[in-house]
Amino acid sequence: MSDHDPKRPRPVADSKSEMTEIVLPNDANPLNALVGGRLMHWIDLAAAMAAHRHSRHYVVTASVDHLDFLVPVRVGDIVILRSSVNRVFNTSMEVGVKVWVENYHTETNHHVSSAYLTFVAVDGTGGRCLSVGPVIPETEEEKRRYEDALRRRELRRSELARRKSLPK
Ligand SMILES: CC(C)(COP(=O)(O)OP(=O)(O)OC[C@H]1O[C@@H](n2cnc3c(N)ncnc32)[C@H](O)[C@@H]1OP(=O)(O)O)[C@@H](O)C(=O)NCCC(=O)NCCS
Repeated sequence: MSDHDPKRPRPVADSKSEMTEIVLPNDANPLNALVGGRLMHWIDLAAAMAAHRHSRHYVVTASVDHLDFLVPVRVGDIVILRSSVNRVFNTSMEVGVKVWVENYHTETNHHVSSAYLTFVAVDGTGGRCLSVGPVIPETEEEKRRYEDALRRRELRRSELARRKSLPK
């Protein structure tokens, strides 16, 4: 198996990605606070980077779990998004994103949001799902996330099945 083989097992560390943004007036509401939709966009991009790095395929977002916004983020703040692949199933993988806000005047650093997204690897036409090589959790935290990801997948699947069974 060559180093570039998409099916090769890879450590979680290989997927780790970091994205940094400064909040500009165009990202904010009239209260000078970052709008939730912009943060959701950045979360999706940061997560996609980790999914690409791990899978070496095109990926599409299949779902985003529950999102909380824990503290407001103001114009001028620096937003840091850290992502990595928690677990691979078959063609899908769960990516975790943790968001921090840094204010260089007050020298504070706060946790803003955490999210779990599921990405599916697809071919160049987006029409066929492709299987993804496993991810290897190495640290205690990565192992915990790996175990938790399976529980979350089961919850997602049963919720999806329930919604599909509802009358249209
Ligand atoms: C996501 C998508 C590729 C799944 O295709 P599908 O034909 O329904 O695929 P399947 O039912 O065979 O499932 C393929 C994988 O996707 C996963 N999946 C499908 N829907 C899912 C959902 N809502 N949430 C999480 N995972 C999902 C399945 O669990 C399966 O994973 P596995 O192979 O690891 O077991 C397809 O629904 C799609 O293209 N959606 C649009 C994606 C998109 O445009 N995203 C951007 C949003 S603006």
